[in-house]
Amino acid sequence: MVKAIKPNLSVKLGPLNLKNPVMVASGTFGYAQEFKDLMNLKKLGAIVTKTITLKGRQGNLPPRTCETPAGLLNSIGLENPGINRFIEEKLPFLKKTGIPVIVSIAAEETPDEFAVLIKQLEQNSDVAAIELNISCPNLQKTRLIAQDPQATFDLVSMARKLTAKCLIAKLSPNVSAITEIASAAQNAGSDALALINTLGGMSIDVNKRIPKLGAWVGGLSGPAIRPVAVKMVWEAYNKIKIPIIGMGGIMDTASALEFFIAGATAVSVGTANFINPQASVEIIAGLEKYMLANNMQNLTQLTGRLKACKD
Ligand SMILES: Cc1cc2nc3c(=O)[nH]c(=O)nc-3n(C[C@H](O)[C@H](O)[C@H](O)COP(=O)(O)O)c2cc1C
Repeated sequence: MVKAIKPNLSVKLGPLNLKNPVMVASGTFGYAQEFKDLMNLKKLGAIVTKTITLKGRQGNLPPRTCETPAGLLNSIGLENPGINRFIEEKLPFLKKTGIPVIVSIAAEETPDEFAVLIKQLEQNSDVAAIELNISCPNLQKTRLIAQDPQATFDLVSMARKLTAKCLIAKLSPNVSAITEIASAAQNAGSDALALINTLGGMSIDVNKRIPKLGAWVGGLSGPAIRPVAVKMVWEAYNKIKIPIIGMGGIMDTASALEFFIAGATAVSVGTANFINPQASVEIIAGLEKYMLANNMQNLTQLTGRLKACKD
């Protein structure tokens, strides 16, 4: 009997090589230590940290999460220890995993904060990539950087000048034309795009007539947003050349496959981590099984391979 060849799951995001395309999404996996007894961290393709800001942040008033039909609404408000404590207290454990660490960063007030954060991370060899969170809906801003093509271009251009590491721009679904923002990030030198952050949402307790979240509004994640995310990945894939990291409601292998077929080079597992901490590891195994069954040796045979007709 001929033995089937094990598929090659490795992918490349600009200068960053990953042994497999499954990572965990920012803000849903803490700093990995929280998950060390719940799953095998060493199996992951990469770990994306909770978003870090210059100074530590307490986050928003509770309640900061509430469940909605097929989704989770959150208004964490970027609670994090700040860059210095992150490097001292969180990065050593992340380094020990041996898995590429993608550090997500954001500015509280002005884009200059991104520059300071990038300069600090650029010098640190334990950091594999930098993800620019320009799409957080929980900072009570009237307009996000990722809602403005020019602001996206300017921010990513500035970041590009400051780092040779893999640079990822994380985009917002709260826009009318995702392709405009995706093109702006690409043209400014982003190595890859992360698509999508949460969709703006609100939920009301009708008996008390109060908002269910302390911050009143928040960001929706989970299966409810998957069709929106898949569409945006597909639209971006048809417009741009750089790799896309797809996310939004990935719960299992089948939902991850939708993203690859729509055009994602890699995927990120978010809300599913709270329900099934093994989800990402199960998806890696499921992906390999699917590729074996479909005679695929590498992921280029899967990414963007959407068929036009139902044959
Ligand atoms: C509780 C929670 C906290 C999050 N915090 C962050 C964050 O700090 N930075 C960020 O870029 N995205 C954050 N996100 C968004 C996720 O990384 C992801 O883009 C989004 O939830 C869609 O994926 P999912 O439906 O698989 O969760 C957060 C999501 C949740 C549910």
